[in-house]
Amino acid sequence: MNSPTPATPANVSPELQRDVAKRRTFAIISHPDAGKTTLTEKLLLFGGAIQMAGTVKARKSSRHATSDWMEVEKQRGISVTSSVMQFEYAGQTINLLDTPGHEDFSEDTYRVLTAVDAAVMVIDAAKGVEAQTIKLLEVCRLRNTPIITFVNKMDREVREPVELLEEIESVLKIDCAPVTWPIGMGKAFRGVFHLLADRLQRFTPGEEKRGADGELITGLDNPRLDELFPDEVKHLRDDVDLIRGASVPFDLPRFLAGTQSPVFFGSGINNFGVQEILQALIDWAPPPQPREATKEATVNAAATAAVQEGETTRMVTATEAPFTGFVFKIQANMDPKHRDRIAFLRVCSGRYRPGMKVHHVRDAREMKLGNAITFMANERVASDDAVAGDIIGIHNHGQLQIGDTLTEGEDLRFKGIPYFAPELFNLARPRDPFKAKQLQKGLKELGEEGAVQVFDPGTGNILLGAVGPLQFEIVAQRLQSEYKVDAVYDSANLYAARWVTFPDDNTRRKFENEEAARMAKDIDDNPVYLAPTRVSLKIVEERWPQVNFHSIREHGQRMSHG
Ligand code: G4P
Repeated sequence: MNSPTPATPANVSPELQRDVAKRRTFAIISHPDAGKTTLTEKLLLFGGAIQMAGTVKARKSSRHATSDWMEVEKQRGISVTSSVMQFEYAGQTINLLDTPGHEDFSEDTYRVLTAVDAAVMVIDAAKGVEAQTIKLLEVCRLRNTPIITFVNKMDREVREPVELLEEIESVLKIDCAPVTWPIGMGKAFRGVFHLLADRLQRFTPGEEKRGADGELITGLDNPRLDELFPDEVKHLRDDVDLIRGASVPFDLPRFLAGTQSPVFFGSGINNFGVQEILQALIDWAPPPQPREATKEATVNAAATAAVQEGETTRMVTATEAPFTGFVFKIQANMDPKHRDRIAFLRVCSGRYRPGMKVHHVRDAREMKLGNAITFMANERVASDDAVAGDIIGIHNHGQLQIGDTLTEGEDLRFKGIPYFAPELFNLARPRDPFKAKQLQKGLKELGEEGAVQVFDPGTGNILLGAVGPLQFEIVAQRLQSEYKVDAVYDSANLYAARWVTFPDDNTRRKFENEEAARMAKDIDDNPVYLAPTRVSLKIVEERWPQVNFHSIREHGQRMSHG
């Protein structure tokens, strides 16, 4: 079944094809408090993966009760088990990847989005589009990830649905195609009219229901509507007619291209609208997609020759027989006595089998995958089979880094696992000056692992950059426990960091000369511009139109000219 020969349409295994077609791998993106935890829980409940509501919530509320070391360790343990949740629904295998939010927000949140094939965006209907949703959607856009929108909390007094759609379209620059349309809101929320199925789904509040979402009434002219809603029925019919006329119809190719989002209205806490989201994932969300990989001309002569001939990238399809995958997240072990880590690997092609030998491309060596784990909704279990779309956890002692590619021999590196320009900065120095070396070593390793970004501003200090404050907290704890360095952190008054590339060496020299005080090097020696304020960034961008300022950088990529 698993032949090492490259797949062509003729030698695609039917079993692999069938198993890959069943996979749906997605994440939920939202601003804190919009209802992501509630929706996650309801999806698991409907999928039969948990038996009782409250499981995910209990985990969430137990987080960050205190910030002492053991608590952080425990929380990290918790997030290992809840960071990927696999369950079966309607004959499909669904992988739901958690995007850590609240205080857990970190670069991991962004990186998770590089490992999914679709996303569900939860919008709080009272608040509309909020800051973190905007950022997360920008990351989805890097890969044109298809987005399903869930407008939540319709059981509350919220904003007008038309206004919400306009806001999503204008702020997030994505077209909306309403699939369901709400009838009323708050106490007067009566349900949703399904514009494609031409039926009304009646809302009755209550958390206990599971499965069917309430009475279904087919047809806008159904007399049952007059019977149930004598006062509202005219308004309802006018509304539905109007929205049918005014909105664009759902278009599957546009959804798959990431330019149009089907929109569902509901109330997660009341189980209302959840089934539609699952159904949309099954019916519309894509199975594991092909991924672009760069050919690495490092090991064998054939690869080098191909790269020299200009064949630098290729698309890896999910049904190719040889196993490939990439690491998008590293989790340190919750037991500080053991230095081992779990690398989360998204399988991109082929089939994982316990004990298989793989090629670690960056290290150019063989690696045995003995004891990978699969993450079920409530537990982790030994993985005995995984195909494209699945996430496996690989125990290792630091050999695997974020962005690493594993293959069955081919020298490939998957693209699209970026570093994101940090927004928070700290300067680190050892409390004991004799520990400077340890601090440097520890930060280098933590930086390579992707826990934090490490910059050298050339002043003797080490500059740390992050997108979420928890990253600093974890780095400080790990420096103490794993490297025995107690460091002092001073806030660095910076607004942003941008990787810079130049059209030629002359411009580079000139820029680095004139802006020397604002330059630093990242962990791979790439030049970085540090802007103290938003205005200063704008000014420098205007002054140097020929210089490119980048807010993302690929892992393992050396920023060259351009
Ligand atoms: P998050 O993970 O996106 O941060 O959001 P979470 O699901 O925790 O929901 C945030 C708050 O919104 C919770 O209330 C939750 O109960 C509430 N909520 C979620 N969905 C709905 C909905 O459809 N309607 C209404 N009215 N509320 C909803 P909380 O008071 O913060 O927590 P709790 O005490 O209810 O657990």
